[in-house]
Amino acid sequence: MAGKLVIGNWKMNGRREASAALVNAMLADSRINRAGVGIAAPAVYLPLLESSLSGSEVTLAAQDVSRFGKDGAFTGDISAAMLADVGCRYVLVGHSERRQYHGEDEAVLRDKLLNVLAAGLVPVLCVGETLAERENGVYKDVIRRQLSVLEGLAPHQVVVAYEPVWAIGTGKVASLEQISAMHADIKAWCLQIQKSDASICTLYGGSVKADNAEAILSIDSVDGALVGGASLNVESFAMICKAADKLV
Ligand code: PGA
Repeated sequence: MAGKLVIGNWKMNGRREASAALVNAMLADSRINRAGVGIAAPAVYLPLLESSLSGSEVTLAAQDVSRFGKDGAFTGDISAAMLADVGCRYVLVGHSERRQYHGEDEAVLRDKLLNVLAAGLVPVLCVGETLAERENGVYKDVIRRQLSVLEGLAPHQVVVAYEPVWAIGTGKVASLEQISAMHADIKAWCLQIQKSDASICTLYGGSVKADNAEAILSIDSVDGALVGGASLNVESFAMICKAADKLV
């Protein structure tokens, strides 16, 4: 794969026309339109993006998935098989906003991971501590617990995104030392949890912008970025993708 992986997370933003215009402007930009770039769009717009992205190497991602694996009486849910059906390759699992606003815990996330894998897609498990957890020194235990859902899953099947909650959407980016240390810890813990000697792919997320992307992505243990706010702007996203493209 060319460069490091960049996934833009549009969260709950956009309308049909604006989303079509945004994805088309992104595809017209050669810094974005390449392998190793993904876009996680709101579920209702996934088919729209699927048709825009067809013929491009940019991959489609979903922001969430049902914890239920089989079709049935689960009103409002969208299954992993449905996400596969509309062309997704990646699925975010356990984003901190899902954990915070929907009370998603390890049991739910384990189900989601297994469903995503069963549908042949790649889960991006998001982990991260709150500011209080970092300040009172329990953050390593928190991340380890969040990673425990990966037990028994092969490293090549899964991506982990480290997103400190206090850095998401706040403009407060973690320091390069904090990012580097946590990514190294995550890789080491995954080796133990997954009982494997293959290294897991880790993304950093939390206020990644055009002006800090290169420094963050240059860290050896960082294999890519999960980008929220800056992925809604073509030029910012293009600068981040360009920074990632230079690095492997
Ligand atoms: P942000 O969001 O880049 O706006 O901080 C990152 C994320 O939540 O994935």
